[in-house]
Amino acid sequence: MDKRTLQKKIAIIGLGYVGLPLAIKLSLNFNVVGFDVNSKRIYSLKLGIDNTNEVDEKKLRTALKSNLLLSSKEDSIKNCDIFIITVPTPVTKENKPDLTFLEDACNTVGKIMRKNSIIVFESTVYPGVTEDFCGKILEKRSGLLNEIDFFLGYSPERINPGDKVHTIDKITKVISANNRETLKILKKIYGSITNGNIFEAKSIKVAEASKVIENSQRDINIAFVNEITKICMNLGISIYDVLDASSTKWNFLPFYPGLVGGHCIGVDPYYLAFKSKKIGIKPEVILSGRKTNDEMSKFFGEKILDHIKSKSKILIFGATFKENVPDTRNSKVFDLINFLKSKKHLVHICDPYISDKRIHGNQVYKLNELKQNYYDLLILTVNHKQFASIYPRKVNFFMKRSALVFDLTGAWKKKQHNLKYNTL
Ligand SMILES: NC(=O)c1ccc[n+]([C@@H]2O[C@H](COP(=O)([O-])OP(=O)(O)OC[C@H]3O[C@@H](n4cnc5c(N)ncnc54)[C@H](O)[C@@H]3O)[C@@H](O)[C@H]2O)c1
Repeated sequence: MDKRTLQKKIAIIGLGYVGLPLAIKLSLNFNVVGFDVNSKRIYSLKLGIDNTNEVDEKKLRTALKSNLLLSSKEDSIKNCDIFIITVPTPVTKENKPDLTFLEDACNTVGKIMRKNSIIVFESTVYPGVTEDFCGKILEKRSGLLNEIDFFLGYSPERINPGDKVHTIDKITKVISANNRETLKILKKIYGSITNGNIFEAKSIKVAEASKVIENSQRDINIAFVNEITKICMNLGISIYDVLDASSTKWNFLPFYPGLVGGHCIGVDPYYLAFKSKKIGIKPEVILSGRKTNDEMSKFFGEKILDHIKSKSKILIFGATFKENVPDTRNSKVFDLINFLKSKKHLVHICDPYISDKRIHGNQVYKLNELKQNYYDLLILTVNHKQFASIYPRKVNFFMKRSALVFDLTGAWKKKQHNLKYNTL
């Protein structure tokens, strides 16, 4: 890489699931400042502790000893040339895009940036946010002009928490910019961490759209399988048996039923739907998928309770939004728990990834804290790796002899069962 690019100082704004791994990778070639408003997060990262489990301690410590500086002070990013923004983009209670984190980040960068700064966004948004929303705030705050004094880029992130195979260096990175020269610089910078595996999108809006449709497509495909699951359950057949058969066709797409939570798949389609409505297109398929997936917790809850006659002690295995991660944001397991509690059942959570003792008013237990011979029903909601080896033998310890098992993941369907096993 040429010396001029190598000398660029990069600021990463927001050090969560997306920002931290990016900061570590970039620091192998560049001077990087990782900035996060959460001073507690900075404190623990400086000790080598990443509570998102995305970066191991050794890599973090090595980066901190070389080119990576971490701070919660705005001054730390003062002399940076390139600002990469990786802050959350959630939805409001009404499922509308909540751009306040982006707004705050733009206000911070706007105060600090100089002429020729490049500001790149990685947060998932609907087409138009980078230029029409963020660009305007940056102009106002800095007094500089977009496309003349500073330049914008958008590069969606494809990180898959808990997935140690599809890491940044192994996937194609889509990049875009509002000027040729900026695109060239981004190609070199991002190319340095992806072994040159870069796709240059035609425009920033194209890159923004590409990301939000990836996650919307996944949401819709899962919604279809969830709907088929409902049909299968009422037919008295297993969706997994049906999928096993259908999957033998060369062009059948393998999607599986389940609860769709988290801050990406369950959120991003609302961003697309919002923009779609703004430009006069009714997003029927997108919103119908969302509705189907959002209603699955209640559907599963009702189906499970069909098997129970009296008030029961229910154990939930897994409450994070997906397997092998500590992230509980927007986890639909809590909708299921609330539904079961509303029917006056006692519900306990066991989740090896959740460090808090209580979450959303529920006690969280570790496997070794569960009482002997206590529960009437076990629901496997999230297939964490720790649960795989303990079924059925060790599970017998804390379940009553007459207990039921409801496996919402299908993970145990091929095991030997000595409790009453049910799956989808
Ligand atoms: N996590 C994923 O799997 C994933 C994958 C692809 C894309 N994305 C997208 O990337 C973006 C970030 O997601 P995430 O999961 O990393 O979020 P996160 O919540 O894990 O991390 C965001 C970080 O930004 C910090 N922050 C918030 N406002 C800030 C500000 N004004 N200045 C500096 N720091 C600030 C927070 O303290 C937090 O540490 C979102 O738009 C998300 O949709 C996430």
